[in-house]
Amino acid sequence: MTATADFQDRMLSLGLARVSEAAALASAKLVGQGDEKAADQAAVNAMREQLNLLDIAGVVVIGEGERDEAPMLFIGEEVGTGNGPGVDIALDPLEGTTLTAKDMPNALTVIAMGPRGSMLHAPDVYMDKLAIGPGYATDVVTLDMSPSERVEALAKAKGCAPSDITVCILERPRHEAMIAAVRSTGAAIRLITDGDVAGVMHCAEPKTGIDMYMGEGGAPEGVLAAAALKCMGGQMYGRLLFRNDDERGRATKAGITDFDRVYTRDEMVTQDVIFAATGVTGGTLLPGVLREPGWMTTETLIMRSKTGSVRRINYRTPVE
Ligand code: FBP
Repeated sequence: MTATADFQDRMLSLGLARVSEAAALASAKLVGQGDEKAADQAAVNAMREQLNLLDIAGVVVIGEGERDEAPMLFIGEEVGTGNGPGVDIALDPLEGTTLTAKDMPNALTVIAMGPRGSMLHAPDVYMDKLAIGPGYATDVVTLDMSPSERVEALAKAKGCAPSDITVCILERPRHEAMIAAVRSTGAAIRLITDGDVAGVMHCAEPKTGIDMYMGEGGAPEGVLAAAALKCMGGQMYGRLLFRNDDERGRATKAGITDFDRVYTRDEMVTQDVIFAATGVTGGTLLPGVLREPGWMTTETLIMRSKTGSVRRINYRTPVE
């Protein structure tokens, strides 16, 4: 596959929206059916089919897993017609498989695209994440601060009491101490059961009421969230977490040498990107897919970091 042109982010953004829409439409049929795998597979198939119609020489850098464990949209898979710019693609065809299976809020289809070499090749390990929205001085909160120090520093910068801060955290036993520490400051916590790409994006969207996201989740989702925040504004930090030699081996394979490094948003996503997300189940960022007799309707966020533009596209399509 050869790259024949520059990355035309403006031209490609509508194509990216189509990819994201197709995955949402496919998985919407499985909302509430209790089958995570089927919902994910439907989204993967639809996303791949649409991606392969785009005039790009794309390579999946954040995908469904490594070649030997994912039959489609695996890391390193080439996508697109091959007639177009060389691009890196980070994707999660269904972010929130359990949310979809149980018809719970905030399941999204997510994809980001940028020039070759623009995104961290994060292995499928955990990442310690911290994010806030736009408008704050650099490093007002850091991963090296304790959870309570982060709340106090952010409250001071916002000019409010810690009890006026709301933090979003994944509800997991590994976060019990963090949750207790944040609560000790008086701050509120919005616990989510899954979907930390949306969790991070909430910080940059004032209507959600979330000021800060923290906690450990998937590293691939961390890079996708960094791509979203690069478009929306806001700060994010991520440190990869390794539980064993196999995970360190995956990182080495992905070209990572410093295992303790803290990546900023712009170190995870080093050049301008475009980002699309479509709601599968309704949530605070996006409504879910609307199914009516004969029709399906989606809403997609399509964003460009170069201009900071954020569009919402409604798409209605006839269905049999
Ligand atoms: P899936 O969509 O693959 O189920 O992932 C959902 C998710 O909640 C991510 O948003 C998050 O980063 C990760 O899982 C957390 O992992 P774990 O469930 O192992 O705590």
